[in-house]
Amino acid sequence: MANLLCIGAGYVGGPTMAVIAQKCPEHRVVVVDIDGAKIAAWQSDRLPIYEPGLKEVVLSCRDKNLFFSREVERHIAEADIIFVSVNTPTKTFGQGAGKAADLQYWEKTARLILQHSRTPKIVVEKSTLPVRTAEAMERILHSDDRDLPFDVVSNPEFLSEGTAIRDMENPDRVLIGARDTPSGQKAMQAIVDIYAHWVPRERIITTNLWSSELSKLVANAFLAQRISSINSISALCEKTGADIQEIAHAIGLDSRIGPRFLNASVAFGGSCFKKDILNLVYLCEHYGLSEVARYWDQVVRMNEYQQARFHSCILSSLFNTVAGKRIAVFGAAFKANTSDTRESPALHVCRALVEERAEVVLTDPYALDNARIVLGEDARRVIFEPDPYAAAANAHAIAILTEWTLFAHLDYQAIYRSMAKPAFIFDGRNILDHRGLFSMGFNVQAIGKPPLIHSAR
Ligand code: UDX
Ligand code: UDX
Repeated sequence: MANLLCIGAGYVGGPTMAVIAQKCPEHRVVVVDIDGAKIAAWQSDRLPIYEPGLKEVVLSCRDKNLFFSREVERHIAEADIIFVSVNTPTKTFGQGAGKAADLQYWEKTARLILQHSRTPKIVVEKSTLPVRTAEAMERILHSDDRDLPFDVVSNPEFLSEGTAIRDMENPDRVLIGARDTPSGQKAMQAIVDIYAHWVPRERIITTNLWSSELSKLVANAFLAQRISSINSISALCEKTGADIQEIAHAIGLDSRIGPRFLNASVAFGGSCFKKDILNLVYLCEHYGLSEVARYWDQVVRMNEYQQARFHSCILSSLFNTVAGKRIAVFGAAFKANTSDTRESPALHVCRALVEERAEVVLTDPYALDNARIVLGEDARRVIFEPDPYAAAANAHAIAILTEWTLFAHLDYQAIYRSMAKPAFIFDGRNILDHRGLFSMGFNVQAIGKPPLIHSAR
């Protein structure tokens, strides 16, 4: 039996450790967080995050071998293996502001581990970090006179929100990086042994520390780059009459390209893509690789362009004024099946519409509470409406910003009747039947598609 601890009970720490606890019943798993309210929620019936299948996993092992606690110090002292998944947001101040990762929580956590440790420990980097962070971690952990044996291992998460439990249970691969020393290799084996409880051994990849740290940034950069690439072509489609979904299908059948991550959209969001690419850009600049930095920076610029294009399209289609017009925004989450609204393109579009003095009504099945928090001051100028039918009533336009299945199956005939005319739909996710909507009377603008606009009678 080993005592596993995770510091940081967020979107990554919570689901990851719940699955580890379920798959490794002989280990004791504790998840701690400095946020007492979050821990209380993990202990309650209303978990702090919505993630399909998560509740079942948590309930199957909570208070058996999975525990949530605020007592960070005590559990550090007891742990054999400590996973660190505290947040590493983009720095907002000083050198590297707007690009570099803010490592203050990381460093604090490293110092806390050192201060409360009495026995040797393996420290696992779960958070996404700049390459060579493990070196800094090691220096802090070995900075006092006791020189306790600590091994730092990198084990980046690749789980995607909305499918986090499935991704953990059946990962494409698990990546573990460690030092090429006897104790580094022993530590790596200890982490391999945890995953080997349910992951086939050939899918557990081991590398050196720096490859593991950098692979995480590169995986996210490549995924985001595919979205920016297809989104760039969506702009060309709108000018030429080509259809982005037909193109994605045609190119995706080439096995060298593959079909996934080719859905053109209003933009990519979420806590990782933008942050990780900016971090990569900063690293490249740091090492004097300005051409490489500029190449990756363009992925983020293209994403911003796509977002801006979407709300400009709403404005120009609605006769260049939305002031006082009710606009129903369908979706607040950055993608379907999550309550997460971090970097959500939906909220960006809401803000742009509020700025134009539109009456914005936001609807989402799970993400309205988070949207209210993220919108801050602007939330006062937005109506939050859980019922999409009520949101759309009397609206001049509907903008689809999250690809919830629910939005694809609404009674759009009834919705059309309840709306102001001419009624518009802007499909930022290409989930609706555009021809069908057009024949009901809607004017339809979708990403990367020829517009379907009724001519003036
Ligand atoms: C975070 C990072 O954003 C991501 O880069 C990394 O890959 C994994 O960790 P996520 O789990 O989505 O992802 O973040 P978040 O939901 O904000 O959770 C982090 C948690 O750490 C928060 O609950 C926060 O309260 C906690 N925390 C932060 C601590 O417990 N101690 C600290 O010192 C700082
Ligand atoms: C991502 C990575 O996929 C995951 O491996 C990593 O650990 C964390 O970051 P996540 O941000 O949860 O996961 O979601 P993801 O499914 O990657 O989607 C990110 C954004 O891209 C969403 O806004 C999504 O709507 C958008 N997207 C995705 C598209 O616009 N088109 C696509 O084809 C795919």
